[in-house]
Amino acid sequence: MKILMVCLGNICRSPLAEGVMQSLVDKYQLDWKVDSAGTSNWHEGEPPHRRSIKIARNHGIDLSVQRSRPFTAEDMTEFDHIYVMDSQNYQDVKRIAGKLWNQDKVDLILNAVTPGKNKAVPDPWYEDTDKAFEHVYQLLLDACEQLIQQLNTQA
Ligand code: 4NP
Repeated sequence: MKILMVCLGNICRSPLAEGVMQSLVDKYQLDWKVDSAGTSNWHEGEPPHRRSIKIARNHGIDLSVQRSRPFTAEDMTEFDHIYVMDSQNYQDVKRIAGKLWNQDKVDLILNAVTPGKNKAVPDPWYEDTDKAFEHVYQLLLDACEQLIQQLNTQA
């Protein structure tokens, strides 16, 4: 199973999602690949936001080796599931994927917790507080736990 986490900058939310999912994949000893990408190239090559790194580290997860990269149309074929953080990410992934768009592979990550509600993971970039990043971490932990259970029973 190959899973891709996507947000706008690939420095705040999706790196946390990747780190949380990778830690659960390790915990449950699953042979899954986890990666993340951004719908923009604004931060390409940069490590995650210092607060994402800090909050993850508080929970025993190391994000410091991650580097931001833009989402590409080829990711649509490479990955089995693509989880986006908000509806704008969803529209952008659809636009970038072009002819390779596959609706069955893409969903908002919080739909794992509240199916069909299309709730957004709030972007902590603008608030820029530890509290905002911790809130994102908790939302993503809950969603990733659900996803592991759901995807594991499908496999
Ligand atoms: P992310 O947050 O999409 O969760 O990585 C953002 C990072 C950077 C910007 C916006 C959101 N920015 O405007 O540069």
